[in-house]
Amino acid sequence: MKYLITGATGHLGQKVLNQLLALVDAQSVTAAVHTPSKAAHLTEQGINVVASDYLNVDIMTKAFADQDVVIYIPSKTYNVLQRITEFENSIKAMQLAQVPSVIFVSFYADQENNPFTMSPYYAYAPRKLATSGLNYAVVKNSLYADPLVPYLPELIERQALIYPVGDQAMNFITLADSAKAIANLAVKPELRDQGQVYTLTQTHSLTMPELGQIMSTVTGHHIGYAPVSNQEFAQIYAEEGDGDELASMYAAGALGLFDQTTTDFETITGTQPESMADFLKRSYHAE
Ligand SMILES: NC(=O)c1ccc[n+]([C@@H]2O[C@H](COP(=O)([O-])OP(=O)(O)OC[C@H]3O[C@@H](n4cnc5c(N)ncnc54)[C@H](OP(=O)(O)O)[C@@H]3O)[C@@H](O)[C@H]2O)c1
Repeated sequence: MKYLITGATGHLGQKVLNQLLALVDAQSVTAAVHTPSKAAHLTEQGINVVASDYLNVDIMTKAFADQDVVIYIPSKTYNVLQRITEFENSIKAMQLAQVPSVIFVSFYADQENNPFTMSPYYAYAPRKLATSGLNYAVVKNSLYADPLVPYLPELIERQALIYPVGDQAMNFITLADSAKAIANLAVKPELRDQGQVYTLTQTHSLTMPELGQIMSTVTGHHIGYAPVSNQEFAQIYAEEGDGDELASMYAAGALGLFDQTTTDFETITGTQPESMADFLKRSYHAE
């Protein structure tokens, strides 16, 4: 079997690549990369690297030829129309290359009433796959736990989480666990190719006071919960360039749309996902 990963140099893509290399022969794995200079280390390790561009059907068709499973990790653009164009191009290339099996990596923000900026994309993509004639499975990630680690020093200073989600709980998954599930799904044909939809979550959703309590225990500093308004949240993170988009995401959280818990991680991997407490304990190192 030959496996190709798109977005292979990204945060998630690198981890999926490594998980896959732990399961199958390196010769059967190909990293499809957008910026070749970011993949020099992969070439040095003897990993197959091909050029890929979601805006170029010909390049992708060449990259996907003769592959058995394509793991598609989208770009991170917040421009909905561009992301849809990238996906339309990618589907066309997969059809031209007659890719036998596709794993689409998605996000659990696809409900009809979801106000997250990217929810139109996450609602559209599985329907596009369903009409494509391709064999596929969808893996929806919950919120990544990983960005919470570099956020801890700020939270210690604030002495509180400020997400504008009120009493609602949200569920998370680590990048490592997401990658583990995606790689396992790739090598288990009995679990894919039938339009299955998996949602990767930890075993418990957390309210913000519960998350703050875990963070307090791990860091030794009190981190409570003092939510700001959605508008304030957008303003506080405006300088980082995605304040509005993040605020729209937590508006979905405030509607309870991220309070989803499934056993899909266990179904795919046969193991339990790492808990938030264990993950933060393992990852947090006080300065
Ligand atoms: N669940 C969550 O909480 C959460 C959080 C953040 C992101 N996400 C989503 O998860 C996915 C992966 O996130 P990530 O953090 O791994 O993102 P990332 O590090 O930005 O990786 C995205 C990858 O896509 C590649 N790419 C960008 N434009 C491309 C194009 N035109 N053609 C081909 N490849 C292209 C990038 O390559 P270059 O760098 O070379 O352009 C990169 O390798 C994204 O879709 C993102 O929206 C989810």
